[in-house]
Amino acid sequence: MTRKILLLPGDGIGTEVCREARKIIDWLNNNRNTGFVLDEALLGGAAYDAHGTPFPKETLEKAIKSDAILLGAVGGPKWEGLDYSARPERGLLGIRKELELFANLRPAIVFDELADASTLKREIVAGLDILIVRELTGDLYFGTPRGVETLPDGTRRGVNTLVYTSPEVQRIARVAFDLAKKRGGKLCSVDKANVLEATEMWRQEVQKIGDEEYPEIELSHMYVDNAAMQLVRNPKQFDVMVTTNVFGDILSDCAAMLTGSLGMLPSASLGAKDTGKCNALYEPVHGSAPDIAGKDIANPIATILSLVMMLRYSFSLMAEADMVETAIKSVLAKDLRTADIMQPGMKKLGCSEMGDAIMKELDSAKAAGVKVA
Ligand code: IPM
Ligand code: MG
Repeated sequence: MTRKILLLPGDGIGTEVCREARKIIDWLNNNRNTGFVLDEALLGGAAYDAHGTPFPKETLEKAIKSDAILLGAVGGPKWEGLDYSARPERGLLGIRKELELFANLRPAIVFDELADASTLKREIVAGLDILIVRELTGDLYFGTPRGVETLPDGTRRGVNTLVYTSPEVQRIARVAFDLAKKRGGKLCSVDKANVLEATEMWRQEVQKIGDEEYPEIELSHMYVDNAAMQLVRNPKQFDVMVTTNVFGDILSDCAAMLTGSLGMLPSASLGAKDTGKCNALYEPVHGSAPDIAGKDIANPIATILSLVMMLRYSFSLMAEADMVETAIKSVLAKDLRTADIMQPGMKKLGCSEMGDAIMKELDSAKAAGVKVA
């Protein structure tokens, strides 16, 4: 059996963190017969430099044919002056849209070892395990009309459109309800229904799906401003949250900091199963971090945890997923840290050293004959 993984390292630290994830994939092939076949393609600024477009046709073709995609990050100051259509971010948005990856899962889990690395008090974040489900192919990101025009009097007018249709809301709601069913049975839908009609419709559709199909799930609704506040006030009140593309973008960065660092948060972007195209892309929530790119100091854990999500969601390799996750926890338990999660008295590792440390844990678990299910 072969399992085709496409690597899209992208820009900045994306290439560094993907290199570490690749080591883990090789380890699994060598030690667990996982049969992964790796291919690589360009996306974002790197693709623009090589081909004049952030999303080359060759990348799309490879993406469609793969079983799962692992992406690093895109963007950087080098490409900031370009027209919107050529910016690295368009590559990322393009691949999400082309593959119809409408459901973005962003779990924020606080590892016990890192409860003190958060800027929030330990008791607020210790044991935190929440899941943000972000709609990923609609909203202001894709709505039309869009653009900036200059009016006859010289005034500039910028427009973006917040648009959702009821089927778009229903399909993301079902994904979130299904996940809530497998977890704590609670779902909070986040909107701005007091001001924005499109999100009032969102609220009504989510409620309807809840009433008709998931009466056992405890459904609540919250305005996005309140949700941002509640996330830092008392994040443990949440189990699963479901929200729009823009609100999800913002709230997930906020949730990431609860876990100590943006460098710890993985994500999965999933589409429908029967499209005939690859329906799963995994990426860290963090960006390309141009300020630290090329210095080998980035935290590869968010990317390796994204790989863990891939093992679970795309390949049902539950034992292997548990092994890699346990190896990460063991490294943290040994007080090894990258700069972003560094604490007094601990040992600071670079990006590749962190990848190696995780590999070493995998090796010793294997040598110790640790039983996996
Ligand atoms: C994210 C990122 C992207 C987004 C950018 C890079 C286009 O911030 O995945 O959260 O806004 O979706
Ligand atoms: Mg973001």
